[in-house]
Amino acid sequence: MRFLGKEIPSPLTLASGILGISFSSLQRVIRDGAGMVTTKSLSLEPRIGHEGPIIAEFNGGLINSVGLTNPGIKDGLEEVKKFHNNLDGVAIVSVFGANAQEFVRLADAVNASSGDFLELNLSCPNVEDEFKRPFALVPEKITEIVSEVKKVTSIPVLAKLSPNANDIAYMAQLAEEAGADGITMINTLGHGMVIDAVARRPVLRNNIGGISGPCIKPLALKLIYDVYKRVKIPILGTGGVSNGLDAVEMMMAGASAVAIGSAVYDRGLDVFKSTRLEMEVFMKDHGYSGYSDLIGILEEN
Ligand SMILES: Cc1cc2nc3c(=O)[nH]c(=O)nc-3n(C[C@H](O)[C@H](O)[C@H](O)COP(=O)(O)O)c2cc1C
Repeated sequence: MRFLGKEIPSPLTLASGILGISFSSLQRVIRDGAGMVTTKSLSLEPRIGHEGPIIAEFNGGLINSVGLTNPGIKDGLEEVKKFHNNLDGVAIVSVFGANAQEFVRLADAVNASSGDFLELNLSCPNVEDEFKRPFALVPEKITEIVSEVKKVTSIPVLAKLSPNANDIAYMAQLAEEAGADGITMINTLGHGMVIDAVARRPVLRNNIGGISGPCIKPLALKLIYDVYKRVKIPILGTGGVSNGLDAVEMMMAGASAVAIGSAVYDRGLDVFKSTRLEMEVFMKDHGYSGYSDLIGILEEN
């Protein structure tokens, strides 16, 4: 199948932030049957991030407040270069900046690298404008950042959106109008909080964090369906996918490819192999001849 002009063996993708940036673990995901990998979100300078605990499990998913730990764009792109040695796989480089100018500098660097696509992380809880609003909640910021970045890029650009926006379909429409080539959605939900009752404290050192995993899947499906009806550009769906049936549902809702994040913690790296196999079994059993046949075929009651 094809996604944004690249031939990929399966629609499965590693979501941003899950395996960091080391080229060898990114390569393993491709060897296990994924078509694409997304790097941890990279900033201009390295960031240490928050003190631990930065991630916790609860009955329904994960909560995290990593604080955008990353080695910085220069070292990150070195790993992307190594990733491409002897391997056919698509690398999506995720970046985040403090303002449009920083996004442009990052986009420039990715455009000149071996990165295949650029993903703009507009939706991270730690990336906000002067009024402490994440960019993905502010219509004019989406328009500004995407259109400025498009001026300096020739590779496809994905805008990563937040489920916390009041009307994510409108945000996706703005990104499309500003020139985005695709939408990645959804990023983590909330902030939420997980509490240790014995200690009488939140479990995360940062007290609050973004929610991911199976509990956000119904929301992801609904929002992807909304966005699919609004825009023409492809959607890289993410949010609570942990098996083949989840991935099939997400494509039926309108995703052209599906990224897996939290399930890697739960099921290990083998999740890509098993999810691909489960998708193939479903498609064979129900008479679908290829992944692309699944995209957006949901019929409402
Ligand atoms: C530990 C952790 C770190 C994450 N870091 C990033 C990140 O750096 N950039 C980003 O765009 N999304 C990040 N995400 C969000 C995921 O890429 C994904 O959008 C979200 O978790 C929903 O998918 P899931 O339910 O399959 O995990 C992170 C998620 C987790 C759990």
